[in-house]
Amino acid sequence: ASILVLHGPNLNMLGAREPEVYGYETLAEINQRLQNSAAAAGHHLLHLQSNAEHELIERIHAAKAEGVDYILFNPAAFTHTSVALRDALLAVSIPFIEVHLSNVHQREAFRHHSYFSDIAKGVICGLGSQGYDLALQAALKQTH
Ligand code: DQA
Repeated sequence: ASILVLHGPNLNMLGAREPEVYGYETLAEINQRLQNSAAAAGHHLLHLQSNAEHELIERIHAAKAEGVDYILFNPAAFTHTSVALRDALLAVSIPFIEVHLSNVHQREAFRHHSYFSDIAKGVICGLGSQGYDLALQAALKQTH
């Protein structure tokens, strides 16, 4: 299968950004680990991080044309704001899992609502970067 991992704004700062909340691992380390697991299982994994909403939207549109089977998405702050990204995922109807490093429900009230959870296959939060590994495992099991 072809899996796309999308990371939203500020996730390029992982490792340095509030490490007590988001952990000490860098995004490059997380992406490399996911790529290794996918490759070991005979699958193809692509990834993109962007701080720009329109770039994420365009990447989702392109995913359709490329035949991406599954998306793992941490929309970061756009989780709580972006109708446009929600609509992009609905437009391509590629199944996706929403991932958050932190337990958003333990945090400020404005992080409790997500524009994605009700249209996601599943949601993982609060397990740190392991959430991506678990999401990948689930996605690979659901594709072939
Ligand atoms: C986050 C949680 C969001 O509320 C926050 O804006 C982020 C990261 C997480 O992975 O825990 O940037 O998506």
